[in-house]
Amino acid sequence: MNYDIKDIKLSEKGLKRIEWAYQDMPVLKSIHKEFSKNKPLKNLTIGACLHVTSETANLMRVLKDGGASVSLCASNPLSTQDDVAASLVKDFKIPVFAKKGIDDKGYYKHIKSVLKTEPDITMDDGADLVTMLHKEFSQLSTKVIGGTEETTTGVIRLKSMEKNGILKYPIVAVNDSYTKYMFDNRYGTGQSTIDGILRATNRLLAGSTFVVAGYGWCGRGLAFKARGLGANVIVTEVAPVKALEALMDGFRVMKMDDACKKADFIVTLTGDINVVDEKHFKIMKNNCIVANSGHFDVEINKKALEKMTVKKREIRPFLVEHTFKDGRKVYLLAEGRLINLASAEGHPACVMDMSFANQALSVKYIKDNYTKLSKKVYKLPDHIDIDIARRKLNSMGVKFDKLTKEQEEYLKSWEEGT
Ligand code: NAI
Repeated sequence: MNYDIKDIKLSEKGLKRIEWAYQDMPVLKSIHKEFSKNKPLKNLTIGACLHVTSETANLMRVLKDGGASVSLCASNPLSTQDDVAASLVKDFKIPVFAKKGIDDKGYYKHIKSVLKTEPDITMDDGADLVTMLHKEFSQLSTKVIGGTEETTTGVIRLKSMEKNGILKYPIVAVNDSYTKYMFDNRYGTGQSTIDGILRATNRLLAGSTFVVAGYGWCGRGLAFKARGLGANVIVTEVAPVKALEALMDGFRVMKMDDACKKADFIVTLTGDINVVDEKHFKIMKNNCIVANSGHFDVEINKKALEKMTVKKREIRPFLVEHTFKDGRKVYLLAEGRLINLASAEGHPACVMDMSFANQALSVKYIKDNYTKLSKKVYKLPDHIDIDIARRKLNSMGVKFDKLTKEQEEYLKSWEEGT
C-alpha cells in the first residue's frame, strides 16, 4: 500500500483517539451499521482531501466498510493529526498522504497522490483537490461521477467554477445542509477556535477586548463563546444585515480601523482576503494577539506583517512574536492558518458526527443519482438533512412533538382567519 505519513509508530495513540471520537458520533455510527451491511458504495473509488483528524478517520472507516476503496490527503498543511494518520494506515489499511507542518510543495504532492488513484468521487474541504483535478488531471473528469464539498470557502470557489462554465462534474455542497453549517460552523468553530487560542496562549479572555471579524455562522459562534468567557466582544462586518444582527445580539460593531486599536485579540473568520491588513498593523494596540479561523491563510496580510517586523521569535508552539520598529509587539498564532485545527484538535466529534453523516449520505446520493445530475453545485435534499437531525435527536434521547392531522391540514390551508 502506498502512503506518506510522519511516523507509523504513532498508530497506537491515534487508534485510541479514533475510538474516543467514534463514541460521540452516534449518527455516523448508525450509517456505519447500514453501510457495513448493505455495501452501497461497492466498486467506488473515493479520493478525499479533508483535515486528517480522528473524526475524519471515522468517516473513512464508514466509506471503506460501505464497500468503497478510499484514500486521504490533508486539506491544510497544519491540520493533520499524525497519530491518526498512522492508525488509518496501520489499523484500517487506508492510504493516507499527510504530515503536519508540510510545506506547500509537499501538500500539493499529497493531493496528486490521491488523484493518481483515479477516484470516481472526490471529497473536498476547500476545493484544492477539485481545482487540481481540473487543472492538471482533467482527463479524470470524465471518470468522476461527482464530488462533495465540506466548507463555505470551497462552496464559494465551486459555485464560481459553475458560473464560469468550468466545473466538469456535479458537486454536493455538504456545507449547505442545515445539519452542517448551523452546528459545525457555529458551535464547532466557536468552541474549537477558543480552544486553539487558549492552547497557544494560555491567556485569560475575561475582561479582554476580543474582536471577531465576520459575523457569519462561524463568527457568530465565536462571538457568543468569547462573550460567555467574559470577553468584551467587538464585531467587524461588511454586510449590513449581519452587522445589524451583531448589534442586536448585543455586540459592539465598528470598522477594523477602529477595532484594532482596542483589541487584545483579533480573530478573522470571513473567507476573505487581507481583513487584517498593513494599515491595521500600523495602528494596532501593543501586544495584540492575531489569529485566523477562516479556511485559508489569506485573511491576515502575513507579507505586510513580515515586512514591518524588525525582530521575530517563537515564544510557544503556534505563537510567534513580531516586534515593530516603534517597539510595539504583535503576536501571530499558527502562521495565520486555521487556529482551531493547527493548535487544537478541530471541532468536537459531536458536531462532526452530523457533518460527516452528511458526507457519507452525499456519497451514496451521488452514487444513486449521478445520471440525473448536471455540472452544478447542489444542496443535499432536505429529507436527508432532516433525517440526520432526527437521528441526532434520537441518539440524545430527546423527544419532540409531531404535527397532528388537524395541524397539518391547518398549516396547508388558507380559508381560516380571525
Ligand atoms: P459566512 O459566509 O457565513 O460568513 C462570513 C462572513 O464574513 C459574512 O457575514 C461576510 O459578510 C463577512 N465578511 C466578508 N468579508 C469581510 C470583511 N472584509 N470584514 C468583515 N467581515 C467580512 O461563512 P462561514 O460559514 O462563517 O465561514 C467563514 C470561514 O470559515 C470560511 O472560510 C469557511 O470555509 C471557514 N470555516 C472554518 C472552519 C474551521 O474549522 N475553522 C469551519 C467552518 C468554516
